[in-house]
Amino acid sequence: QSYHVAVVGATGAVGQKMIQTLEAQNFPIDKISLLASERSAGKKVLFNGEEVEIKEALPEAFEGVDIALFSAGGSISKKLAPEAVKRGAVVVDNTSAYRMDPEVPLVVPEVNEEDIKEHNGIIANPNCSTIQMVAALEPIREAYGLKRVIVSTYQAVSGAGNAAADELKEQSQSFLNGDELNAEILPVKGDEKHYPIAFNALPQIDVFQDNGYTFEEMKMINETKKIMHLTELPVSATCVRLPFFTSHAESVYVEVEQEGASVGQIKELFQNAPGVVLEDDPETQTYPTPLSAEGKRDVFIGRIRQDLDQANGYHLWVVSDNLLKGAAWNSVQIAQSIIENNWLKK
Ligand code: A2P
Repeated sequence: QSYHVAVVGATGAVGQKMIQTLEAQNFPIDKISLLASERSAGKKVLFNGEEVEIKEALPEAFEGVDIALFSAGGSISKKLAPEAVKRGAVVVDNTSAYRMDPEVPLVVPEVNEEDIKEHNGIIANPNCSTIQMVAALEPIREAYGLKRVIVSTYQAVSGAGNAAADELKEQSQSFLNGDELNAEILPVKGDEKHYPIAFNALPQIDVFQDNGYTFEEMKMINETKKIMHLTELPVSATCVRLPFFTSHAESVYVEVEQEGASVGQIKELFQNAPGVVLEDDPETQTYPTPLSAEGKRDVFIGRIRQDLDQANGYHLWVVSDNLLKGAAWNSVQIAQSIIENNWLKK
């Protein structure tokens, strides 16, 4: 059997990776609809070697679509995901629009694949930084239980879209030429102030909330609890944008319920867990970096250390391509699970 698949936001940083991932997976597609804004309508893109014309994302575009992958921003998902569902499609939404909706499963297949089958038409793909963290936490939870998580992130500009990546390129050129840096997008398009990202570090990803945390930090906190079904788990996050293009890195501190595991035992968990790859050997200076993870689908883990004071505490360095496992690959995994398990209809 094959399916009519739509990609909404097909010209964007994530949408382009969705298209490539569907191709690479040989996803069973008999028709593909590539949708974006009016500005892109009429442009042609190659899919499996054939030219496909980009269409404007309008409600009628979802007629006959079986599976729609959305990554065109939260407001587009709010407006168009229900239109797609109304026409019989299942939506995998990569925006934050529905993630905390109790009716919508929020899924990282290595952690909670079974939640997909509870869907009412929409399944949410978590925030990129959350996905790679929970993929790393799940094997630890399974073996030893989780007591608390504290994370600091080092995030790539592509998480803010293609325009943010262009801004880093332009500012880097200007910096090296000794020219003034022009900041119009980061930290948050539409927020009041902008700061240069080139040769800098910005401790703001997404807008500030009333509690002083940013929305990105609150996404990591709330989404982790929902995905792992641990509503009481203490989680805290500090999210920082850095001047590189792809992959997010995270310093994760985790305290477990059952103390006594050696670093060797923690490493062994990652050697046997799905979707994660251990790259950890101080003797050979082996650890993952944003550049080494770029273009790969796995979540890479290194620098595993026992806390020096807290017997049940461990530190990890977790790196993954934010556009792949953090977005396109996780969405395509969800779509594959839907068809393989026959979960298109509830
Ligand atoms: P377009 O290229 O036509 O503007 P990114 O995350 O890289 O910024 O990409 C955002 C994606 O969302 C692009 O594919 C963009 O299409 C799409 N998009 C933005 N605004 C709209 C809109 N009003 N309707 C449909 N798609 C949109």
